[in-house]
Amino acid sequence: MKIYAHRGSSGTHPENTIASFRAAAALPIHGVEFDVHMTKDEELVVIHDETIDRTSNGKGYIKDMTLAELKKYDFGKGFSPKFKGELIPTLREVLYVFKDTHHHINIELKSDVFPYEGMEQRVLEMLKDYRLESRVVISSFNHEMVRNFKKLAPQVETAILFMEVMIAPHDYARLVGADALHAFFPTALRPMGIEAVASGRKLRVFTVNEEAYADMLRAVKVDAIFTDYPEKMYNYLNK
Ligand code: G3P
Ligand code: CA
Repeated sequence: MKIYAHRGSSGTHPENTIASFRAAAALPIHGVEFDVHMTKDEELVVIHDETIDRTSNGKGYIKDMTLAELKKYDFGKGFSPKFKGELIPTLREVLYVFKDTHHHINIELKSDVFPYEGMEQRVLEMLKDYRLESRVVISSFNHEMVRNFKKLAPQVETAILFMEVMIAPHDYARLVGADALHAFFPTALRPMGIEAVASGRKLRVFTVNEEAYADMLRAVKVDAIFTDYPEKMYNYLNK
């Protein structure tokens, strides 16, 4: 069972920061996951929420701020004063960290609340710049976005994210144009998860920080887990 560092090594570093991604890039794990939003001046930035309120010393919606405005805030909150001064990273800056590593890269398009028109094309252009099209999976809770991306770039792997048990996940994924399924942890253990694995479609599961849950998921042969503690989980699963 593969391991993806969720928002980087976010259990030990401020989530979705370069510090968090450098820590993940140094690990012998399979991949990394992070979230992308679009700024007022249409720059792609890596952050989980629609606002910067929870993860920085600022306030406001990303869609209402330019990249230059966003870069004034400190995203090094929590853990240790040594992270003070971490800035919001752009997608380009994060891809740069992984451009020469072996890691598989999961880019989650966070267009669930705001549509971020043209985001798919911009992400694709950046993947082409870095020649990373064969080393990424594009996922979203916004399944229209997943469908759009697949139409735009059939060569790039896509995945649908979902929280609840889904009927006929294999058929639905085919309809959307999703190659893989990214499921909330408990649903993966239900018959739906078992069916997805049996269909041969990759099932990756978020967010798994407990070793006992990792054992359960390994037993039902899911492809991968997303975890905030990739180093701890790697050591546990490879002991
Ligand atoms: O991509 C898996 C997982 O990150 C989805 O949930 O809310 O952590 O982005 P969330
Ligand atoms: Ca995510």
